[in-house]
Amino acid sequence: MSKLWGGRFTKETNQLVETYTASIGYDQRLAFEDIEGSLAHVQMLGECGILPENDVEQIKAGLRKIAEKIKNGEAAFTVENEDIHMNIEKMLMDEIGPAGGKLHTGRSRNDQVATDMHLYVRKTTKEMIRLIALVQEAIVTKAKENKETMMPGYTHLQRAQPVLFAHHLLAYFWMLERDKERFSDSLKRTDWLPLGAGALAGTTFPIDRERTRELLGFSRIYPNSLDAVSDRDFVLEFLANAAILMTHISRLSEELVLWSSQEFQFIELDDSFCTGSSIMPQKKNPDVPELLRGKTGRVFGNLIGLLTVLKGLPLAYNKDMQEDKEGIFDTADTLQGALKLLAPMIETMKVNREKMFRAVSNDYANATDIADYLAKKGLPFREAHAVIGQIVLYGIQHGKYLLDLTLDEYQSFSPLFEADIFEVLKPEHVVKMRNSAGGTGHAQVAAQLQMAEKQLRKP
Ligand code: ARG
Repeated sequence: MSKLWGGRFTKETNQLVETYTASIGYDQRLAFEDIEGSLAHVQMLGECGILPENDVEQIKAGLRKIAEKIKNGEAAFTVENEDIHMNIEKMLMDEIGPAGGKLHTGRSRNDQVATDMHLYVRKTTKEMIRLIALVQEAIVTKAKENKETMMPGYTHLQRAQPVLFAHHLLAYFWMLERDKERFSDSLKRTDWLPLGAGALAGTTFPIDRERTRELLGFSRIYPNSLDAVSDRDFVLEFLANAAILMTHISRLSEELVLWSSQEFQFIELDDSFCTGSSIMPQKKNPDVPELLRGKTGRVFGNLIGLLTVLKGLPLAYNKDMQEDKEGIFDTADTLQGALKLLAPMIETMKVNREKMFRAVSNDYANATDIADYLAKKGLPFREAHAVIGQIVLYGIQHGKYLLDLTLDEYQSFSPLFEADIFEVLKPEHVVKMRNSAGGTGHAQVAAQLQMAEKQLRKP
């Protein structure tokens, strides 16, 4: 079969080369972006008087027909035509005849593929932002239901100080908020248009790049044609943002796995989000958060993969760059799937308030508060810390928690203790008193919830 570029060749392409170098298997996902870019390009060619109106109209009609066929699953892509760009060009020529051969005037596949990728990343970035917000909504809903629910806060996975479950959940809200912000920020740079850069050096045709930019709705054109066709930093940024987002998803997933274990029993994931064991009838496995945690590997891998592809490349286009596609498709699919699952999984999970409260009560997590109590009575905090250390040790040795000790016992450690210590040690009080900005105190968490909701209502 004759190639679109076959003129200077005397031999057919080796079969293995053809299969190995073809990208149509995956870049057919860019079909509509490719057509969108071509429609703008040919429109501009017409307006600039580079192609006659008649050709422009034929080409546009042909492209639209092809889009329709692809939508209806009637288009047959072939490996012989290598990639989506040449497949569509070939289809166009079959559709409208020789006029189809004029579409590629003043353009190269190099600025074409870069344009398709910009369109794809721009669209996908917006979708990511939308899906992250859905998870944030679910978090806010759960947090609102748990404004009073107390749980142990941890450091080193050891109980540290009690917190509100709403507070713990909202920590993820803000991580996701920054993830959204990172995607919006990278959108600014994805919004540059490479089309019109030609193969690498520009073109001899009197094209109007600003017009194509306007038609495709980009904010600016790349000022340098070499840069336009040879960088994929906008793809890297997407992959990096995705990797950070996936880290957050993975940490949340790990907590969901941990909390639903028999050891914790803080939450129960809905049956519809769990699976069973083929041998142990009693099992209910948190497969979804486990898999989300596991999928982090490929998302990180895709970032490292493309960084490595680009790192030693001389300017401008090199075939290596075709390797930018599968990774980003995979990352986008993985994350979109993850975000779509997370929202309803969070919404439907049951929170075991009693278990959480027991974990808070049967514990020494209120020890800091006795230290604060003595410090407020004038004892230097360091000294107070040492005294409470002894009290905790005494408690452990006598099988008593801090609320179980008597006033006499407290006073044997320091005369500063009075009867109000028992109020101070109650978990509700311990939480409520942490009223510094951003703390877990009820008033702070209520304010935080308001802030979060306001953030979500922003356009
Ligand atoms: N399939 C190629 C890619 O994805 C399109 C650009 C090819 N350009 C070239 N000069 N071979 O990178």
